Amino acid sequence: MGRKISLFEAFLKDKSGVASIVPSSKSTVKIICGMIPYREENTIIEYGPGTGAITKGLLKKMGNDSQLILIEQNNELYNSLTKQFTSDSRVSIFHDLAQNVKNILQRKSIYEVDTIVSGIPFSYLDDITAQLIVDQSKNLLKIGGQLIVYQFKDDIERYLRNFREVRVKENPFNIPPLKIYNAIN
Ligand SMILES: C[S@@+](CC[C@H](N)C(=O)[O-])C[C@H]1O[C@@H](n2cnc3c(N)ncnc32)[C@H](O)[C@@H]1O
Repeated sequence: MGRKISLFEAFLKDKSGVASIVPSSKSTVKIICGMIPYREENTIIEYGPGTGAITKGLLKKMGNDSQLILIEQNNELYNSLTKQFTSDSRVSIFHDLAQNVKNILQRKSIYEVDTIVSGIPFSYLDDITAQLIVDQSKNLLKIGGQLIVYQFKDDIERYLRNFREVRVKENPFNIPPLKIYNAIN
């Protein structure tokens, strides 16, 4: 089995895509995972799981009949996620872009989900791509479902206008400090 790649190594090869040198802190994982109302059969998508910091937090809370769909664009991080999580039958991992989420879910015959958690760096995306990802996510969410986005910058806020409500929580203990947007459909 190969060595697990660090986020720092992935960052050195793809600075704008990876956009962070360290995984989300324990406090961020706790805040994000605490925002989700878990049921026995939740369907959750994670965009940009990286090394799986939030993934592990979600899996600890998700029921046995739930499913977690991971979409990661970076080849080495994808390979590393595959090694970590293939043995968990709740997890499906795709080496793909969040902008293709609709097609990815269609291949699995999934047409609606409870929660989407996104760690992708929206500030590096062009306006059209960013809005496309948010709009496709909104269309996939059940009524009352959530798009949870964590960012170091405020850029995401303008793309979330079509959601019924957007709650913002700051985590000053993360390095660097970050904002967590919980957009309710
Ligand atoms: C800031 S890191 C977050 C890593 C991890 N979620 C965490 O909290 O530690 C951003 C991650 O998003 C991935 N990413 C960036 N753009 C993406 C896209 N359009 N689709 C899927 N993954 C993407 C990167 O490769 C990287 O793994």
